[in-house]
Amino acid sequence: MPKYYKYKTPDDLVADAERLGLQVFVTDDFSSLFTPISIGPHRAGNRLAIQPMEGCDGTLDGHPDELTYRRYRRFGAGGAKLIWGEATAVADEGRMNPRQLWINEKTAGSLERMLAQCRQAHRETFGHDDDLVVGLQLTHSGRFSYRKPMLAMHDPLLDPLTRDKSTGRPIDPSFPLVTDDELKQIADQFLAAAKLAWKIGCDFVDIKQCHRYLLSELLAAKNRPGPYGGSLENRTRLVRDIIERIRDEVPELTIATRINAYDGIPYRGEGEEFVGRPVPHERPLVTAFGTNPENHLEEDLTEPLQLVRWLKDWGVQLINVSMGNPYANPHVVRPAEYAPVDGYNAPEHPLIGVARHFRIARQIQRAVPEIPVVGSGYSWLQDFAMHAAAANVARGDVAIVGIGRGALAHPDFAKTLQETGRLRRTSVCRTFSYCTNLMRSKDHPLGQYPTGCPPFDKEVYGPIWKEVLEKRKQAENATR
Ligand SMILES: Cc1cc2nc3c(=O)[nH]c(=O)nc-3n(C[C@H](O)[C@H](O)[C@H](O)COP(=O)(O)O)c2cc1C
Ligand code: SF4
Repeated sequence: MPKYYKYKTPDDLVADAERLGLQVFVTDDFSSLFTPISIGPHRAGNRLAIQPMEGCDGTLDGHPDELTYRRYRRFGAGGAKLIWGEATAVADEGRMNPRQLWINEKTAGSLERMLAQCRQAHRETFGHDDDLVVGLQLTHSGRFSYRKPMLAMHDPLLDPLTRDKSTGRPIDPSFPLVTDDELKQIADQFLAAAKLAWKIGCDFVDIKQCHRYLLSELLAAKNRPGPYGGSLENRTRLVRDIIERIRDEVPELTIATRINAYDGIPYRGEGEEFVGRPVPHERPLVTAFGTNPENHLEEDLTEPLQLVRWLKDWGVQLINVSMGNPYANPHVVRPAEYAPVDGYNAPEHPLIGVARHFRIARQIQRAVPEIPVVGSGYSWLQDFAMHAAAANVARGDVAIVGIGRGALAHPDFAKTLQETGRLRRTSVCRTFSYCTNLMRSKDHPLGQYPTGCPPFDKEVYGPIWKEVLEKRKQAENATR
């Protein structure tokens, strides 16, 4: 029985928002969503995007595999006109798991096939693909690299939650930071990746600065000494270098970035109910970007707003706004009805999280009206996500609406909405968090289970989920 999502109509949703002191707008006029928009030199035929959604289903050497190709064919046929390809590592040591995509000379050909199949599926369904915009998210996982954490700074709140893989113990203050020279090499890797991305047909690359992976952590690295820490100018030096070098060397490639506009702080489950509580912390907070140093629950957008104005000046043409940390405060990244296996029960009504996404994206969009901003965090709104999406676009609060989990469950949400005026009820994501649970399941011969939507993409992911559950049961029995 859902605890929070009990809405029968969009008006119920608005009434609940009002009860919670929040502003959420809805409309059943979806026409704003089907208005084309320019993204740099490209034209997207509608305002619906598929967010970057890692499938953790590549090969060990970074190629897409069968399920990866399948996902992009489904996304291509689904009708969203902006497809934001998933996190793709720029270096092996920067991968988040052993099956994460990795762009290099050897994998370029198969990644090109993946993008081509996405476009082909779109053409087969809609007759043309000249208004489809497809790109890739380029990433370095930094602290969350699966082999060895690579820290941009010491974070008093995150270090105790980060394991040094060689000792199995939490990071301590003696753990070395990534050096300035290593950061310069990482900039070279982003540039090389962007050149390949252009060669294989990406319309854009996203220089990923969200979810506390390397470039996101750098945004918060006030306590890092040297040219990449301290002032905001220093903390954005690396991303600026990367963007300027891509602009100089691959001028036709559109540069996008997904940013964390609010980090918040880590949470842990506590008590019998295992409800999330913020970890003990001292004030002022010094390592949380976009966050009020005196109150972690509040955003302070002074720096994020400066960041996006600079990004515009440096040549970025598309911005995707996200927030939080999928490992330390998943309720911020993905408001959900049901907790993921590595998470905790919701510390706040999920609508508070959704409204935080909307409020922050709106302020970012207002700061850079020349650049289309993609908003996140819609999936918990379930049957009425498109009602809020249409209202937000019509109001100019965001140019484009990105759907994450909702697109794993219902990859053809855009086509269905356009053809029938509603989502297919039997495919709407209910934020059960099975997809995150699969992502966190490592007991697989390749060290990582693939992820997708077991309840609504049953044929493929149902048996995979069953296998994970059986293994968990066996492991539990073995420890009894
Ligand atoms: C299985 C899974 C994979 C994800 N992969 C990525 C990713 O590769 N890059 C990224 O920036 N966000 C990733 N996210 C976050 C989503 O893009 C999105 O921001 C989040 O799910 C909230 O949006 P939603 O409410 O529409 O799901 C992932 C989320 C899930 C559940
Ligand atoms: S498993 Fe499916 S229904 Fe559950 S959160 Fe993920 S996409 Fe949504």
